[in-house]
Amino acid sequence: MHVTTTDFRAALGAFATGVCVAATRDAGGAPAGVTVNSFASVSLEPPLVLFCLGRGGTALARFSAAPSWAIHVLADNQRDLARRFALSRRHAPGVDPWDGLAWEEDETRLPVIPGCLARLTCLADRVVEGGDHAILLGRVERLSWEKAGRPLLYFRGRYEAVAEAHPA
Ligand SMILES: Cc1cc2nc3c(=O)[nH]c(=O)nc-3n(C[C@H](O)[C@H](O)[C@H](O)COP(=O)(O)O)c2cc1C
Repeated sequence: MHVTTTDFRAALGAFATGVCVAATRDAGGAPAGVTVNSFASVSLEPPLVLFCLGRGGTALARFSAAPSWAIHVLADNQRDLARRFALSRRHAPGVDPWDGLAWEEDETRLPVIPGCLARLTCLADRVVEGGDHAILLGRVERLSWEKAGRPLLYFRGRYEAVAEAHPA
């Protein structure tokens, strides 16, 4: 069976994911960020995570050259952030997603996006070939997380929220 892009997207869209913003500093020191739902945990010992970036985009060059990056797990009230960091620099040249955003920086000068459910800072470990994407593996160095709050989800090409849990 030949797998078409349309069928691949439709089938994989059934796999609901969280939504993250990966952030780093580019070679010139400017903040860089991109919305990803390809984030996954890989290994506990050593603590490794991954996310994938398309080879056709502009983000890969900035992230694959960076010595470290941070993953921000978005909360359900952060859809605007997801949209902001999904704007391709190719399609919206001159639009800086960090403009007008209240962001901070951590002790290593990596950008910090406040209000997220969790944040992981990682040392770049490896970039592995993955077809038309590259797989960026990172070794987790620091973690922070919120005990409250609900996740932003991506399902069938749309943002969703987790339904309220039903009492048992
Ligand atoms: C919910 C969502 C998830 C996304 N996940 C990824 C991803 O995992 N990898 C990726 O390369 N692009 C992903 N994108 C697209 C990027 O956010 C961005 O549009 C793309 O990298 C183009 O930007 P660039 O040309 O500046 O690299 C996602 C977009 C959305 C809306």
